[in-house]
Amino acid sequence: MDKLLITGGQRLNGDVSISGAKNAALPILCAGLLSSDDVVLHNVPSLQDVSTMLKLLGQMGLRITQGNGVVTLNGAEIDKLEAPYDLVKTMRASILVLGPLLARFGEAKVSLPGGCAIGSRPVDQHIKGLQAMGAEITIEAGYIHAKAKRLKGTRVVTDMITVTGTENLLMAATLAEGETILENAAREPEVTDLAHLLVAMGAKIEGIGTDRLVIQGVDRLHGATHAVIADRIETATFLCAVAAAGGDITLKNVRSDILDVALDKLREAGVILTSGTDWIRAQMGARPKAVSFRTTEYPGFPTDMQAQFMAVNCIAQGSSRVTETIFENRFMHVQEMNRLGAHIEIDGHTAMISGVDKLVGAPVMATDLRASASLVIAGLAAEGETLIDRIYHLDRGYDRMEVKLSGVGALIKRVK
Ligand code: EPU
Repeated sequence: MDKLLITGGQRLNGDVSISGAKNAALPILCAGLLSSDDVVLHNVPSLQDVSTMLKLLGQMGLRITQGNGVVTLNGAEIDKLEAPYDLVKTMRASILVLGPLLARFGEAKVSLPGGCAIGSRPVDQHIKGLQAMGAEITIEAGYIHAKAKRLKGTRVVTDMITVTGTENLLMAATLAEGETILENAAREPEVTDLAHLLVAMGAKIEGIGTDRLVIQGVDRLHGATHAVIADRIETATFLCAVAAAGGDITLKNVRSDILDVALDKLREAGVILTSGTDWIRAQMGARPKAVSFRTTEYPGFPTDMQAQFMAVNCIAQGSSRVTETIFENRFMHVQEMNRLGAHIEIDGHTAMISGVDKLVGAPVMATDLRASASLVIAGLAAEGETLIDRIYHLDRGYDRMEVKLSGVGALIKRVK
């Protein structure tokens, strides 16, 4: 199993190119199931989760060609309407095939994802929405069996804001009969990016970017070409790395307009930021200042950045409070950071962090994707060597992170 060995204390200087967003690419790949024509996708990140999704889609009969970050999908010969347990258990986003399969083929069998490291993460809202659209759904032997001659448009109000739930229902609604209204829809930029692809494929969607999506179903969707939006979480992760380790880096191929709250917090922490439409420069010459925040849905503070900002807070001047409101168990990195010398206490959904003058490297264990990234940041800021185990979590969602960090002067290498 690969590990990452980091020798901390190096400042980061230079340019980093940001990849396409994992959480946009995954639903967008599933949209390939909605058409029998070619869907050509640019800026697809090179990640384990993308490979897993392509494997799943390939098993269903989707034809896939790949090269230079471009993936072409053709859904003319899909013959297996099933997502098996062995793939779904490794990647929960597999649930995103449910809506498209049901809408186009009238049937789908998808393994129920179990719990995961960050919380129980049920998919009841995906099911509730599809049932409201007329699907007959049963759960048998760990599988969701869904059937519908043709889904019918209706008004769906989800109990809470759900990102993949909105994406599943949005894709399903594009081919449903009549009008679907999705209330309480997620407004994450990745949902918006999916909606833009669907419109390019001939879908009729109003309210894109808002919490009320109105979809007029069409009989068929055609092919399209689309570039996946820049990964805002990868972008902010590199910015946190500079906030913690110091230095001067410029991130290229970014979207600075979808990062408002994270950028505000970084400024509050003392990072000097300048930006254009597709670049952000971050300069950090001093010890960061502690910043408190509460995670919430977009456009609020992203839960996917909670752990990385906590790493910055560990070595910041002052104390901070971090409250996680989206997932019930997303503090698994705390014990590992404390092993590096951080002072963090947890009380329910809130972590209290007292910044320390320095962290000291130690062997630590990655527990989930963003926790892994936070340990990398802590390791970059720590004195001495940090060895991070179980970095397969990191490979799921970051495109060659250690290569990009080495490119800006970090002492980081992959060891077997
Ligand atoms: N929820 C339910 N029932 C549902 C759906 C969601 O109770 O049917 C709950 C969840 O348990 C959670 C909350 O609602 O407490 C929000 O979950 P959401 O459905 O929005 O999360 P998701 O769609 O499963 C996506 C991202 C996550 C990201 C969250 C929140 C993808 C593939 N995943 O997950 O990304 O944290 O939205 O923004 O888009 C990551 O990249 O590290 C990651 C975990």
